[in-house]
Amino acid sequence: MALDATAFVRDGFLVIPGFKNAGEIARLRARAEEIVNAFDPSEGSGVFSTRDQARRSDEYFLESGSRVRCFFEEEAFDEPGHLVTDKAHAINKIGHAMHDLDPVFEAFSHGEALAGVARTAGLDSPLVYQSMYIFKQPRIGGEVKWHQDGSFFVTDPPSVTAFWFALEDANRENGCLWVERGGHRGPLRERFFVRGGEAMLERIDPTPWPTLDVATPLEVEAGTLVVFSGSLPHYSGPNRSSKSRHAYTLHAVDAKARYVPENWLQRDTLPLRGFAT
Ligand code: FE2
Repeated sequence: MALDATAFVRDGFLVIPGFKNAGEIARLRARAEEIVNAFDPSEGSGVFSTRDQARRSDEYFLESGSRVRCFFEEEAFDEPGHLVTDKAHAINKIGHAMHDLDPVFEAFSHGEALAGVARTAGLDSPLVYQSMYIFKQPRIGGEVKWHQDGSFFVTDPPSVTAFWFALEDANRENGCLWVERGGHRGPLRERFFVRGGEAMLERIDPTPWPTLDVATPLEVEAGTLVVFSGSLPHYSGPNRSSKSRHAYTLHAVDAKARYVPENWLQRDTLPLRGFAT
């Protein structure tokens, strides 16, 4: 596979069609469905008293960096904490260590082809910190506002790179990615960090976010891999269509860069690895 490292440096992203085949996608989707079916909402994010909700959901999130946990749409639960719809339609995402803990996800997330993409993106010694399976449900799948993934994985020098796999066709109707071509040369605008057990998002640069009229929609077919710089501003719209928009993402940083201790995701016990099998 010939990959254009010059285009990545220029644009801040690369679109690689046909990176995963139908069988690989089907296996990952089936495994995600099993994880959701096996999940008991009463044992995790599901049951909160109103008073404890913010603290409990922070803990549930902050502990998920070395686990496999399900996260639901904000309005999926009623006041006493019961799901108001079936699990399969209420789930927002699964995160954040399936790539190390689940054999099906592990197989999808490693291999020489992926290591080659990482090298093209300038990551010679990647450490894969995070995996997310994103459902973007039909009709209720929410907007993800403009952001840079580097805000969530601060390293010195900046190194985090996103690997975004389309598991279904993604287009403007079901909430595809939008990117600001070349916008990775701008500053990091926000920083998400943890202080005193509490997660917070801090504005660190006043540069405004791009608007959709200057952005590029990445309408891609299932199997496409989009690799992009952690400094690239991107957005995805709400899904008002009748079709879901499943995607899977990995985030890797350079082992030679300093990973700051205020980042939310700290892996104390589960060892970090690259993309090699
Ligand atoms: Fe993102």
